[in-house]
Amino acid sequence: MVDLIEKKRNGSALTQEEIKFMIQGYTNDEIPDYQMSAFSMAVFFRDMTSDERAALTMAMVESGDQIDLSGIEGVKVDKHSTGGVGDTTTLVLAPLVASLGVPVAKMSGRGLGHTGGTIDKLEAVPGFHVEITNEEFIDLVNKNKVAVVGQSGNLTPADKKLYGLRDVTATVESIPLIASSIMSKKIASGADAIVLDVKTGSGAFMKDLKDAEELAHAMVDIGNSVGRNTMAVISDMNQPLGFAVGNALEVREAIDTLRGNGPKDLEELCLTLGSYMVYLANKAESVQAAREMLKESISNGKALETFKTFISSQGGDATVVDNPEQLPSASFVIDVPAPKSGTVESIVANEIGTAAMLLGAGRATKESEIDLAVGLVLKKKIGDSVEQGEPIVEIHSNQKDNKEVIDKIQQAFSITPNPVQAPTLIYKEVT
Ligand code: URA
Ligand code: CA
Repeated sequence: MVDLIEKKRNGSALTQEEIKFMIQGYTNDEIPDYQMSAFSMAVFFRDMTSDERAALTMAMVESGDQIDLSGIEGVKVDKHSTGGVGDTTTLVLAPLVASLGVPVAKMSGRGLGHTGGTIDKLEAVPGFHVEITNEEFIDLVNKNKVAVVGQSGNLTPADKKLYGLRDVTATVESIPLIASSIMSKKIASGADAIVLDVKTGSGAFMKDLKDAEELAHAMVDIGNSVGRNTMAVISDMNQPLGFAVGNALEVREAIDTLRGNGPKDLEELCLTLGSYMVYLANKAESVQAAREMLKESISNGKALETFKTFISSQGGDATVVDNPEQLPSASFVIDVPAPKSGTVESIVANEIGTAAMLLGAGRATKESEIDLAVGLVLKKKIGDSVEQGEPIVEIHSNQKDNKEVIDKIQQAFSITPNPVQAPTLIYKEVT
């Protein structure tokens, strides 16, 4: 290991065998954290070649279990987002692309965050559950083209260990390490093809467009070089996506979107990501044709029908789709007034996320309980004009005192007397 650290420190590339040796040794606790942290720092400064990145990704994939989805017919396309606030896309995309025959075998975790994960959100539908066997999961995907199951097995233990180490050694912000970390998890989860939504902007992990582009290219290269067709979209996270931030509220927003009445930004991003998914699954001649098929599925009701079947097949009450008032709802709905008149110039997405978390929409620690009913609905987005006192956000709360949340939201919005352009939603597509 000393030789490998030195080799990387001096700027040379490691072979596939050397990388395998290192990752296996680290996973088995034969290589200590201090050597792995020195190596990570060397990578931070020296970078990795395309071959090294692919080798690192596959070594991490092979460090643990790999999900076998071979029992599912067709090309299994997975979507991954690098994370944002109020990102309702998975709830829309899963039934939407499944309605065109694309198998969506979604494994999802609960995790920490501003709102729950996809599973938590879906559990806002009374009766819906993900406690199904792997066999049932595969059968459901074959039958309905879509199912969701909780994460099981010991996936990419090397990444878990290495990510934790990077977090405390100032080596998270390294493109080869981030790209291999994300891609290893997707590949171990059984994806044949991968569509990536790389977010950029104040509320994203990659604040700069240039960094986001570099990460997108790195991940697309890794995927393609290990035999997984991969495409990426770079999308805006300078403000939350759509209007809703919260679990039941996002389910409602997803239903609206599947009906063709959703927020325009959410709809547009879903059509863009969805058309790549359909194309990569070989269900359309071109990305453009896939987009037309998706629009048709929304307008003829097939997308919504698929959502109902998906929900009821996992024990959920599908009547919520036509009667969304049956979803959990909060005791108090409170308008947050604009502190002044003007045009919305920016909305700090992370602060909006934190406000949702203060209401109880997300988990601060693994043990926290989520309140599925609570959250926020944005009434104004960047570029909208607003009068003083007019609602900018609607709070859905189960607590009487919401002063801290109101303050946080008012601080997250900046309002200017000057005209403001709404931000670009999709900056780049990397194919
Ligand atoms: N997310 C990941 O999963 N891994 C990283 O390294 C960074 C962000
Ligand atoms: Ca949303």
